[in-house]
Amino acid sequence: MPPRFTALLIAGAALACLPAHAVGNAAHGAKVFQDQCSDCHTTITGKNKRGPSLAGVVGRSSASVPYYNYSDAARAAKLQWTPERLTRYLASPKTDLPGTKMRLLSPPSAADVADVIAYLQTVR
Ligand code: HEC
Repeated sequence: MPPRFTALLIAGAALACLPAHAVGNAAHGAKVFQDQCSDCHTTITGKNKRGPSLAGVVGRSSASVPYYNYSDAARAAKLQWTPERLTRYLASPKTDLPGTKMRLLSPPSAADVADVIAYLQTVR
């Protein structure tokens, strides 16, 4: 095999591996969202269900969706939804933000949390 081609192969393989480890798998995150979040959330701007729309949630301020009736706890929290902050909230909403209206039937696994956050970063 010509050395240039080998180098390309190695670079390609490295790139293919990186995102999966660093930030979670968005494609699997879409399925997690469908299974565990979509009863209460959409990813469509302006479309609230029991919970607020999650379009563009990564990076935005907490409790900032218009026409959604947040709990007093959520309104008072004044958070920035970074991936790190979302990870803490999604691991256990009730202990992370006492008084929040959000209830997860069963806590998602750490891998599912990482994947669903990767997915949410794709919906703006
Ligand atoms: C049973 C309904 C329900 C389910 C299931 C649910 N949520 Fe929620 N979620 C809510 C409610 C209600 C709120 C508003 C919380 C408040 O006002 O205290 C909320 C709030 C949020 C917020 C804060 C939004 C903001 O604008 O500040 C995020 C982020 C979030 N949910 C993500 C998720 C994710 C991701 C999942 C799936 C793993 C999920 N939720 C599953 C009901 C739900």
